[in-house]
Amino acid sequence: MPSSTIIVIGAGVTGLTTAVLLQQHHPTHPITIIAAETPSTPSPTADYASQWAGAHYRPIHPLTTPQLRFEHELTMHTASTMRRIARENPEAGVAETPALEYFANTPKEILELKTGDVYAWPGDGFRVLGKTELPAEAEWGCEYQAYCVNVSVYTRWLMDRFIANGGKFIQHRLSSASDAFEFARQNNLGRPHVVVNCSGRNFDADPKTKIIRGQTVLVKQQYHRTITWQHADGTWAFLIPRPLNGGTIVGGTKEIDDWEASPRAETREKLLKRSVESFPDFVAKVEDFVVLKDNVGRRPWREGGYRFGIERLGSEKTVVHGYGAGGRGYECSWGAAREIAGLVKQVLGTQAKL
Ligand SMILES: Cc1cc2nc3c(=O)[nH]c(=O)nc-3n(C[C@H](O)[C@H](O)[C@H](O)COP(=O)(O)OP(=O)(O)OC[C@H]3O[C@@H](n4cnc5c(N)ncnc54)[C@H](O)[C@@H]3O)c2cc1C
Ligand SMILES: *[C@@H]1O[C@H](CO)[C@@H](O)[C@H](O)[C@H]1NC(C)=O
Ligand SMILES: *[C@@H]1O[C@H](CO)[C@@H](O)[C@H](O)[C@H]1NC(C)=O
Repeated sequence: MPSSTIIVIGAGVTGLTTAVLLQQHHPTHPITIIAAETPSTPSPTADYASQWAGAHYRPIHPLTTPQLRFEHELTMHTASTMRRIARENPEAGVAETPALEYFANTPKEILELKTGDVYAWPGDGFRVLGKTELPAEAEWGCEYQAYCVNVSVYTRWLMDRFIANGGKFIQHRLSSASDAFEFARQNNLGRPHVVVNCSGRNFDADPKTKIIRGQTVLVKQQYHRTITWQHADGTWAFLIPRPLNGGTIVGGTKEIDDWEASPRAETREKLLKRSVESFPDFVAKVEDFVVLKDNVGRRPWREGGYRFGIERLGSEKTVVHGYGAGGRGYECSWGAAREIAGLVKQVLGTQAKL
């Protein structure tokens, strides 16, 4: 009779981070990840968002909505963990990186920030740029210290850690989260204590989930900082260097409910042209870019933010939800994992009393 297990559905940044944290909290529990796509999948689909992110950290201002205040807490917790990883495990593909932001129309709460305030983390060197330091069309700008992630290296690093700590990994596409209970029985994994639903948005059962398409270009040239410009028309231009000499991501689009999985050539042209106009100190002419890859990913967005919660699908079928990261799955990852692990602990505590 195999002992009971905790099952995590999903090997994106949310599922992997959660699985690694659960191993720390419950060292004697067997933990199994079941995922349709993994960091080793050679050609990931647009639905596996974690392989298509930039990824950089842009702080969230807390003084806006309750949702953003909550996400601010998740990002602050994540930032301190990512900083430690960057220092202790440079092979993980996370690096502290100088960051710059420009705004054409600056939100009110951002305008109130002052040099010396805490923006990304305590001691981030936050400084408001002077008028003479700004490009002509920018109204406001700032610099600080953030971090960037080489996503393919980092997700593989999490997965290797999970396996080195005794985790079990099965590549399989489930028909639903509840299918995981049946799958566990058939595959001799033991009765799952709990199934953790970190499936992004891919089951499509939740009417609050939507996709936001993102197209970016990976170029060979390596920039030395991450930079974001919110233009007057509401579009964003950004550069995200990939740590460990992985080149630079030139981005990017945010296209709600756009399901096109192939890169659009005209979007690539537009992104490169805007990079030249916005960031002339990077690559001076469109023809000079060495393009390595066009990226298209679907951000697993959910109205109102992440779904964290416990759902009982039957007397012996408890699911803990942790999906709907939207465009901030890396930035929120360790905070999200802490929320999810707290719910798992609650479920296990209830079961122990029965
Ligand atoms: C262009 C772009 C740029 C981005 N930039 C950033 C950034 O700078 N910073 C940042 O923090 N975030 C960024 N993001 C967002 C980030 O990629 C996502 O928030 C994050 O990857 C979500 O991770 P996840 O683990 O929740 O979901 P996913 O990565 O989508 O993982 C879902 C997992 O569930 C599995 N799964 C799904 N359905 C099933 C099934 N039926 N059976 C079994 N397994 C299943 C999948 O195979 C996969 O393993 C960006 C995204 C895009 C597209
Ligand atoms: C699990 O997550 C998906 C998002 O991928 C969601 O649609 C679904 O409602 C969740 N719950 C179950 C029981 O599948
Ligand atoms: C990540 O960094 C490695 C170098 O270690 C590089 O070869 C790889 O292309 C990078 N990955 C991406 C997707 O940028």
